[in-house]
Order: sequence, then structure tokens, then C-alpha cells
Amino acid sequence: MDFYLKGMSIVSVTKNSFGKMPDGQEVYVYLLDNGNGLSAEIITYGGIVKNLYVNDKNGIKTDVVLGRDTLKDYLHNDGYLGALIGRHANRIAKGKFNLNGREYCAGINEGYNSLHGGNSGFDKKLWESNAVDGAEPALILTLLSPDGEEGFPGDLKVKVIYTLTKDNALKIEYKAVSSDDTVVNLTNHTYFNLAGHGSGTIDNHILYINSSFYTPNDGECMPTGEVLSVKNTPFDFRESKAIGRDMNSDFEQIRMFGGYDHNFAIEGRDYRLAAAVRCPNNGIAMEVYTDKPAMQFYTANALEKGIYKDSAEYDIHQAFCLETQYFPNAMANSHYPSPMLKKNEEYNFTTEYRFIVK
Ligand code: BGC
Repeated sequence: MDFYLKGMSIVSVTKNSFGKMPDGQEVYVYLLDNGNGLSAEIITYGGIVKNLYVNDKNGIKTDVVLGRDTLKDYLHNDGYLGALIGRHANRIAKGKFNLNGREYCAGINEGYNSLHGGNSGFDKKLWESNAVDGAEPALILTLLSPDGEEGFPGDLKVKVIYTLTKDNALKIEYKAVSSDDTVVNLTNHTYFNLAGHGSGTIDNHILYINSSFYTPNDGECMPTGEVLSVKNTPFDFRESKAIGRDMNSDFEQIRMFGGYDHNFAIEGRDYRLAAAVRCPNNGIAMEVYTDKPAMQFYTANALEKGIYKDSAEYDIHQAFCLETQYFPNAMANSHYPSPMLKKNEEYNFTTEYRFIVK
């Protein structure tokens, strides 16, 4: 346990046991506190963000992410709540991709397709962990994904660094190096509800997305290959609007999925604002910054109804995910940015979820 005094407040990192894996390996939960009103609990199984506390406009500590209580619950983490996703976020049609003239098949785990890395993706791995001393509390998680795992070529060394920054962001740095050419598309699958988890739908949250183009899906939620303008559609969030405004519209792409479950191309290339969300009830706002090309906006259309952490009851549309990523199924669409990672080159992306009270 380490404490650093920073003015009147305390920056800390605490490590505790979170139980044991079925094979007896110890799982840890880290509590990170930036001493400025932002704290997080992250577990080494799946690199899952279990809790994320932000103070609202009245100083009330609010847990803004959905989650489960125990390791046993997380061992069946349907919906990938809070988890790190890899080696390939979102879908690959029939699991198939071609690399250097050779066909590979990623693990099939959703109908005929591969979703979020296959049957045993990074969300189901026990990560090695190290806390970092310093003015900003951080947790380094590492993983070795061996050549051939879930059908992907190359030994992949993965490093994810979670940091709570001084200016109240959860920063996630994704780094990887492969021993062979491969594909890599890492993300985090946190479900946010800025009014507090378990507090009902996110219909009234006001959302801005820095995107003029989205990719429509076929019936299997697989991009059709088209890249369409958001103009005059429910996908236009260039002027902020309530998430619920068009969520029940009969626009085909919304109706098919019972809400949003789509990839948005983010304007620009550098580290830039991808989205901003605000909860009108408690003033908590969140900005998303990334250097990745795209982002999946998902309104928890398939979230299983039930009792989750702290005895809270969840149902569909009670959270939103903003998963920064390469376009889904990009290897089959040469006009999408390529998620190919060359042997020995560094995959290196950063996404920040920054909190402000308005
Ligand atoms: C996908 C959804 C899926 C969800 C949970 C999202 O990234 O786009 O279709 O239901 O993850 O698996």
C-alpha cells in the first residue's frame, strides 16, 4: 500500500486479494485513488474496471460503471462488463482473415463469427500486475498471448496501463509487440451510466460524437462494408443530443439492433476528442480522447436483465459503451484502416475517459 500526499488529498494504490481462479491462481483487485475525487477498482482477471467513482455536482461519490460483485460472477461475464478486449475487438466475419496470402481463422464464438477475440479472449485472462508509484496512481497489466491462440499468428506481448490522471481521467494505454505479422485491435468494454450504475436508462444523457461517418451492419451486426454519412440520420451526434431521442426510431439500422451498436469513424487522426457525454441530473460529464481511428457506440441493447453488483438491477439501455477501436471486420475491407501489426513493430494507442462536473 503506498500513499503520496498531494496538497490536502491522498494519492494511493492499494492491492487486495479478489479470490482464486479455479486452478488456484490468485486474482487481485487494485484500488487506485488520484486524491482529487476519482478512484477505481480494477481486477487482474480480464483487466476489468469493476468500479469507477466520480464526485457529482453536490459532492456525492457516484459509481459510474456497471459491474459484478465477485470473481465467481466475473467468471461468467456475459456482455464483457468493464473488460479488456483482445486480440481483436468486435467482429470478424466467420473468423476469417487473410494475412500475407495465408488464411487464418479466429475463434468462432458468436453464431458463425468471431467476437471480441474468440472463446478465450483477453477478457478471460489472468493478467500479471504491477502498481506504479508516482503522483498519478497507475496499474500495469501484462499478458503473453501465444502464437496460434484463438487462431491469431505471432506471440503477442501485451501491456495495458491504467492511470488515474491528476485532471480526473481514466487513461488507458494499449501496447503490444508480436513475433510475427498479426492483427491487433484492443479496447476496453466498460458500460457507463453517469447517473450512477443501476439508476435506470441513459436516455437523457446528452452525447456528442466527433464523427461524420458510420458503418451500417448486416443482420449479424457485421459491417456491410459501406461507410455512410450520418447526416439526417439518428447517427448524427455532431450536435449534442439526448441518447434516447432517436433510440426508438424506426430507422432500419436502429430498429434491427434495438438501439445503437455501430462503429463511428472518428474525425482526424491524432489524439483528439472522440465523444463527450453529460448527465443532466448530477452534472457529471465525460470526455473521450483517443488516437484510434474509430469507436463502437453501443447502448447495451443485449444487456441481460438481472441483479448485479451492490444488489443493483440492470436492464437493457441502462448504460452506454464507447469502445475505441479499428473498424470491425477491417481485414475483409481494404478501404478500412488496417489493424495489421507487423512483426516487432509497436502497437501503441491511448484512450482517456476524462471526467468533469458541470
Ligand atoms: C458489440 C455488441 C455486443 C457487445 C457485448 C459490443 O462491442 O458491438 O454487438 O453485444 O459488445 O458483447
